[in-house]
This record gives sequence, C-alpha cells and structure tokens, in this order.
Amino acid sequence: MEDSKKTLFSGMQATGNLTLGNYLGALKNWVALSDEYNCFYCVVDEHSITVRQDPAELRNRARKLLTLYLAAGLDPEKNCIYYQSHVSAHAELAWILNCFTYMGELQRMTQFKDKSAKHADNINAGLFTYPVLMAADILLFQSDVVPVGIDQMQHLELTRDIAQRFNGIYGDVFKIPEAYIGKSGAKIMSLQEPTKKMSKSDENPNASIYLLDDPDTIMRKFKRAVTDSEGTILYRDEQPGVKNLIDIYSACTGKAPADIEKEFDGKGYGDFKMEVGETVVSVLKPLQDRMADIAKDKAYVDNVIKTNAEKANYFANKTLRKVQKKVGFPERIR
Ligand code: TYM
Repeated sequence: MEDSKKTLFSGMQATGNLTLGNYLGALKNWVALSDEYNCFYCVVDEHSITVRQDPAELRNRARKLLTLYLAAGLDPEKNCIYYQSHVSAHAELAWILNCFTYMGELQRMTQFKDKSAKHADNINAGLFTYPVLMAADILLFQSDVVPVGIDQMQHLELTRDIAQRFNGIYGDVFKIPEAYIGKSGAKIMSLQEPTKKMSKSDENPNASIYLLDDPDTIMRKFKRAVTDSEGTILYRDEQPGVKNLIDIYSACTGKAPADIEKEFDGKGYGDFKMEVGETVVSVLKPLQDRMADIAKDKAYVDNVIKTNAEKANYFANKTLRKVQKKVGFPERIR
C-alpha cells in the first residue's frame, strides 16, 4: 500500500446470484478506481447472515464472489481482497459504534424497512444494526471514498453522521468518507418492472441479468425486456424501460446517453435490445471465463485469502486500537 494514495473501501454481500446491477453499479467502478487508490474490497459475509443462509451455500458463494473480484481485474498484490469474517475488528468496531448510533436513525433506514417486510418471521437485531456494521467496515480503514450504487447512499450518510459524532466527542479519529456514484449504471432497474431496482432477490428470473447467465439466457432476457409503445429510443423518465436499456448500454460502452439516442435514431426496439444484449454478453462472457480459470487454481486463491486477510487485519487493528483507547478500554500489557 502506497502512503501517497488515498484509501477506497467497498464490499458486496455473498447472498443470492449477483446481478448486472452489482457489476455496473459497483464492481466496474472499483476496477476503474483501483490504480488511483489503496483499495480494500471486502466480501461482507457477516452482513449476509442477517437473513437465514444455508451454511455450505454461503461458504461457496463467498468464495465465488472473491474469485469474481479477482476475475474483474482487481490486483491482490496492490489491493486488499478479503472476507469480512477473517478480520474480527469489523465486529468489534461495530459494537463500539452501536453505542454511538440512535435507534431512531436505524429505524429510518429504508433497507431495514424493506427487508423486515420481506422477512417478517425473522426481524433480528442484526438486520436492525446492519448499517452500523457497514459504518465499521468503512471507518476501520480510514476510507476516503466508497464506490456504491445509489441504494447504499442512505447507509453512507449514516456512516458519515456516526463518524462526525464520534470525532466530535473524541477528536479526529475517523476520516469522513465520501460516496462515489458512477455516471451511469448507479441504479440499474428490473428488465420486467423498470420502475423497480434490479435485485438478486427478485422472484422473476427474467427481471435480472445474473453475472453467471450464459449468452443465450442473456439475449433471451433482453428480448423480453419491457419497453413501451412510444417507439422512440430516448433517455427520459417517461420511458423507464428504454431509459434503463440506454443506461445499461452507456455503462457498458462508456458512450453518453445523448450519443446513444443519436446512434439508434430511427431504429426499432427489437434491434436496440439485441445490440444491448450483445454488448452485455461481450462484457460478461470474458468475466465468466476468467472466473472459471482462476477458480481452478485453488492454491492461488487460498494464498490471496490468507495474505490479504493479514494485510486487512494489520490496517484494521490500527484504527481499532486507537478507538478502544479513546473510549477508555484498559491498555494491553505486552
Ligand atoms: P449489495 O451486496 O446489495 O450490493 C453490492 C453493490 O452493488 C450495488 N447495486 C446496484 N447498483 C446499481 N444498480 C443496481 N440495481 C444495484 N444493486 C446493487 C450496491 O449499491 C452495492 O454498491 N450493504 C452493502 C454491502 C456493504 C458495503 C459495505 C458496501 C457492506 N459493507 C461497506 C460499501 C461499503 C450491500 O448490501 O450491497
């Protein structure tokens, strides 16, 4: 890690099948920013158990997610790619920050409200304090920037509030992090109900492109994507289905929405959907191939897991020890 660089932190849950939304809203930006910052990319397995998980499946998905980070081009030599559960400072700092977070703040979190409606039989305390663990993730590494999709903004605002409150009492302990939201792709919508976010927990498999979908499935899903009866390819709120497809195409190609409107001027929805589908295949197929290759090299992945967890522990403990001292925990005797 280079002293001259600022620090970036982000994470993803190893729950469900990752979607194109996770890739375009987050992972793609992580890769774009990875040279500029010292980066910590975490597989947030502790967040995952706020809803019930099958243990074998969680373990398997967590490893796949870590492999995906590597396949996307994140370099484990320069950056730190690790499991949250391998760095106990996350949970320890979360406990401390729990004592600096108000019930009212957590009650306002829309993700808590959504998830408790969805899992009404299991509204556990972890689901409620989930954003505090997320704040601990970010603050442990004195992060300057946190690339996320728009749906995580509220959690990030809370993180800043908690950090400012803590600093207000104890002096400058935490860096106040900024969100990084990409120009395009920050909120990819469902292909079936384009006013709803594309989500890994959607029950309709046609609503989401999964990162591991094969090319035929991807093309079929785009063919079925909901548009409208306007017949024009314009980037505007009145046409949410078309707008979402333009957003996806824009995030994959780097082209601006206005240029995309020109490119498809006079063309029909059928042709447009095929082009978007093929573009997504050309992004996901190489990623899937690299993932399969990397997964074959078990020793390599194991070594990344081991050495990167050591790095993460080192940096995380520096902040944790400082915080423990500030709040008045007795010093360790060496
Ligand atoms: P998670 O696992 O739900 O999503 C991972 C990342 O993907 C983004 N994302 C999307 N972006 C655009 N369009 C979509 N449809 C879409 N769906 C998901 C999310 O915004 C996120 O950036 N709480 C976090 C994980 C987390 C975290 C952190 C993130 C835990 N600790 C610290 C940043 C920093 C979550 O559940 O993301």
